[in-house]
Amino acid sequence: MAVQQSPVEAQVTMEKIAALCKRRGFIYGSSEIYGGLSGFWDYGPLGVELKNNIRRRWWYAMVQVRPDVVGLDSATLLPEIVWKSSGHLENFADPLAECQSCRRRFRADDIDVSAPCPHCGGTLTPPRQFNTMFRTHVGPIEEEGSVAYFRPETAQGIFLNFKNVMQTTSQKVPFGIAQIGKSYRNEITSGNFIFRDREFDQMEMEFFVRPGTDDHWWEYWKEQRFRWWTDELGIHPGNLRTRNHEPSELSHYSKQTADIEYAYPFGIKELEGIADRTDYDLKAHMAGSGQDLRYFDQETQEHFVPYVIEPAAGLDRAVLVVLLDAYAEERLGPKPGDVRTVLHLKPKLAPFKVAVFPLSANKPDLVSRARSIYESILPLMTAAWDDIGNVGKRYRRQDEIGTPWCVTVDYQTLEDGTVTIRDRDSMTQERHPADQLSSIFLERLGPI
Ligand code: GAP
Repeated sequence: MAVQQSPVEAQVTMEKIAALCKRRGFIYGSSEIYGGLSGFWDYGPLGVELKNNIRRRWWYAMVQVRPDVVGLDSATLLPEIVWKSSGHLENFADPLAECQSCRRRFRADDIDVSAPCPHCGGTLTPPRQFNTMFRTHVGPIEEEGSVAYFRPETAQGIFLNFKNVMQTTSQKVPFGIAQIGKSYRNEITSGNFIFRDREFDQMEMEFFVRPGTDDHWWEYWKEQRFRWWTDELGIHPGNLRTRNHEPSELSHYSKQTADIEYAYPFGIKELEGIADRTDYDLKAHMAGSGQDLRYFDQETQEHFVPYVIEPAAGLDRAVLVVLLDAYAEERLGPKPGDVRTVLHLKPKLAPFKVAVFPLSANKPDLVSRARSIYESILPLMTAAWDDIGNVGKRYRRQDEIGTPWCVTVDYQTLEDGTVTIRDRDSMTQERHPADQLSSIFLERLGPI
């Protein structure tokens, strides 16, 4: 029977999401037992499942179903010459203002630099450019020639491999190279939980096109990417918008950029950028390396340097947005405690697709039957086992982590082989033969 549910007035806040993530094992502060390191996070047992599921949805939409896009996984540490050529050594900087009293540092574009320090009221220094790349040395000798930088975007590895991919695949322009991996930025201020980190994953694709067709492809990718957030990840379209950059906001390589933005509890901010990088990067690496990175068009018999359209999204920001968007507190009855916290995650994103419960943990017949059902589901999809407390409490626990279906094995199961499937969103229960569970759930999930 359906239980009446209605939303509680409570708003989702960053504090609620961060607390849920910590309590249920989605995300912990990194190096926590030593006091933590600001801007670094560790994904726990549920968080790694959610993050991997989002990663998979991106790879599915951007590589698997697209004959015109191939994948790559390139190194995260690249020599100084790469960053000199790409313009990052000179330009990858944020304006920094420092308080002369408390020595705190701020991003000058986040605060009013003509006012006193937001922390102690002291006087701020005039803004200076602060390069946010992490610098290190490769090998045992710390000399100028061994300087390398952790990549602040995955994109450069794609440009460096453009020729390799051209020579080893049969791709023809227009085509794309996609990559998911770690990027590092020594952000002046990190914060808002996992919104702005110093180590994070990016999902980027460089789409190489004939010069002159870039406006068309830019519009195309803006539309594709917006639809990915709504259709693949289930984000409410009303919480998203696309905004074109003002010329003053553009990165050093961009002719035009649009941001897909989300209405976070702390304001409308960037979620993904779609940039028209022109032929800036390939030309920069041709000049820096002396290599010919032009494309040869077999049909027209001409050489040219392709333009590049780049959809670039943050995976950690995607995790945050999926959690914020799925979170709800719903009233189930009149008493103050009759409220459930639920994550209305798309089933494909849920850390566990199914939870299996024996009605009672003290009845060996029920436990062994439930255990064999649980073990039969495990090779097909992620599943949880819970035999603690009453079934109502177990539903609440699964709701809070977004498990779409709970299977309960009860006395009737021992008689006629049927179990109940309880649906997270409608909270209705249906009886089905236990031996049909796998096919029911696989059909509900759809292609992986
Ligand atoms: N290759 C282009 C590029 O890196 P960006 O706008 O700087 O462009 C792309 O980054 C996406 O990466 C952003 O939209 C955001 O989702 C994510 N991102 C950037 N900096 C981040 C940070 N410090 N922490 C978490 N995610 C970040």
